[in-house]
Amino acid sequence: MPIQALLLEDNPDDVELLRFHLSESRDVQVSVSNTLKSALVQLQDTDFDVALIDLSVPDSQGLETFIEVQSTCPSAAIVILTGLDDQSVASQAIQRGAQDYLNKNDVNGRLLERVIRYAIERKRAQHALKVAHLELKEAHKQLKTTQAQLIQIEKMESVGRLAAGMAHEVMNPLAIILQGVSYLESESEADAGDWQTRREVITYMRESVIRAQHIVKSLLDFSRPSRLELKEVDISALLEEALNLVERQMVFKQIKLVHDIEEELPRILADENQLIQVLINLIANAYQAMDRKGQIILHAYPHMITKDELDRHPEIKEKFQHEQQAVVVVIEDSGPGMDEDRLAKIWDPFFTTKAPGKGTGLGLSIVRTIIQAHQGVIFTTSKLGEGTKFFIYLAPA
Ligand SMILES: Nc1ncnc2c1ncn2[C@@H]1O[C@H](COP(=O)(O)OP(=O)(O)OP(=O)(O)O)[C@@H](O)[C@H]1O
Ligand SMILES: [Mg+2]
Repeated sequence: MPIQALLLEDNPDDVELLRFHLSESRDVQVSVSNTLKSALVQLQDTDFDVALIDLSVPDSQGLETFIEVQSTCPSAAIVILTGLDDQSVASQAIQRGAQDYLNKNDVNGRLLERVIRYAIERKRAQHALKVAHLELKEAHKQLKTTQAQLIQIEKMESVGRLAAGMAHEVMNPLAIILQGVSYLESESEADAGDWQTRREVITYMRESVIRAQHIVKSLLDFSRPSRLELKEVDISALLEEALNLVERQMVFKQIKLVHDIEEELPRILADENQLIQVLINLIANAYQAMDRKGQIILHAYPHMITKDELDRHPEIKEKFQHEQQAVVVVIEDSGPGMDEDRLAKIWDPFFTTKAPGKGTGLGLSIVRTIIQAHQGVIFTTSKLGEGTKFFIYLAPA
């Protein structure tokens, strides 16, 4: 099929010249218009592959001519024909989507045909790119919607699990309080109480109230971590602060707390208080697992994601790509470690191996929610008898 070309040109000499050059090519069929109006009519009637247009015609001047042609026939490639004086308008037209321009004084048959062919090719490629871009945009939109739905489903699931676990956890202290209240009631009726027992009962009741309070507070921490107050922070300072806090809070006795924090770590965007809460939780877990003997090492270093680790820990892929920069924080302990069975459960809300009243089992759920809200990743490796490592990957600001 020959190429269908429309020539918009009002100067009869130029029309002759261009026709002459185009006649050398059997592959191009040319129709001529000498006004914009008649060109637009032709463009509406026929599917032109290319329009060769002079921007100054009797009924239109400059860029306006190009805009009219382009909007009337968006599928045709457009080549601007210029004289000596209108190069700058031509380059403006290129910026707005024309495929090429050609100086009428330099034209020859072979050049003209080549410019036409390239312009058509370029137009096709641009169109294909535009379609691909739109498709990608649509796919991206759909992915975002699906992701939001998934997050919502996951949140609903954990809220369900939480409600069940919370009911169970809060029922125990409530039962103790109820028993205490019954005892005190019966006692005041008899009006002859044992002072010592009364004090004990009140102490149990107070402990139960504190425990219920603690559970409800942890639950609130867990369900409200999305309100982050992000700012650029120096992670090494933040780690030192967390270590300071735990050193003040815990009696480490025979547990050694080792700092292995590299200087010059990249800064990260973080909510300081929440990240400190993460570190305290993890150090407390290590400390509680170790029965007061052993060592806890806090490592922090800049790191480039390798293919090997993406294969070994696929969860990293959710937030990081191969060769991306990350800041890694590791909390390593020489405690008893965990078997596969326990490892599979530790992130579940209310999963705890601690004695009743000692742990809520919400610590790691809160930790994970906070790290996810920071667009980071947390995972653990552990071996029975050897110890446990919690790895946190965060992206530099
Ligand atoms: N460093 C560790 N070594 C061995 N086991 C661990 C370690 N960290 C966590 N665990 C296991 O994971 C369980 C869940 O931890 P999580 O922090 O969620 O709750 P918890 O510590 O039991 O309770 P809470 O954090 O409310 O005090 C722990 O009970 C323990 O069995
Ligand atoms: Mg804990």
